[in-house]
Amino acid sequence: MKMVGIDVGGTGIKAAVVETETGQLATERRRVLTPQPATPAAVAEATALLVEELPAGTVGIGFPAVVLHGRTMTAANIDSAWIGTQADMLFAVALGREVVVGNDADVAGLAEMRFGAGRGQGGTVLMLTIGTGIGSALFIDGQLVPNTELGHLEVRGKEAEKRAASSVKDRKDLSWDDWSKRLAEVIDHIDALIWPDLVIIGGGVSKESAKFIPQLNARARCVPAALHNEAGIVGAALLAAESAG
Ligand code: BGC
Repeated sequence: MKMVGIDVGGTGIKAAVVETETGQLATERRRVLTPQPATPAAVAEATALLVEELPAGTVGIGFPAVVLHGRTMTAANIDSAWIGTQADMLFAVALGREVVVGNDADVAGLAEMRFGAGRGQGGTVLMLTIGTGIGSALFIDGQLVPNTELGHLEVRGKEAEKRAASSVKDRKDLSWDDWSKRLAEVIDHIDALIWPDLVIIGGGVSKESAKFIPQLNARARCVPAALHNEAGIVGAALLAAESAG
């Protein structure tokens, strides 16, 4: 099935058509900057323009917030007007298509479990997406436990994502070494509470995994996301395919 997948991030909005049987992109990836302020109306409009020329059909959207029944419940790295917005309806009206919305890390995790580093993995698998914030997706024997928000776990009095997101690395111009230490502390903290069998690290930094994964010295096996930054788009398309039956 060919479905449109959209990944809304704090910094950029990306979309492509995805072949959902293989996880391959069927078109080039398109990207626009997330409008600032990232209000519901502005984001919906930018997203509508981005997918205008893509084929019709149900669209899946990964969104950086807790999403319950299509409604966005939090807004850590987007405008606070998203809290309580019926996001699936808002996007459906703006895009003129049926829309399914899920948490961005959850949908990226779905893609990694189906086609990437989590393929065939039972037990407890944790996916962390590291970008503007830190997202998490938890799988038990392949089954998603939605809306875990481990990026907001407090580590020594500060939220994990405020210590170790890649946006923090960029903003503070941290070396890979210094940033790895921050991320290691976050992963150790999560590990002590969840004891995952496997941790998949996604987001843009996953392309540079050799520079930090060995440094983490984590108890659990840590591997880079196989789909790198494309996991979000692919997972969003999977969500659309599921809802389209
Ligand atoms: C949000 C999560 C999201 C993550 C990654 C966090 O700030 O609370 O819902 O998955 O950022 O975008």
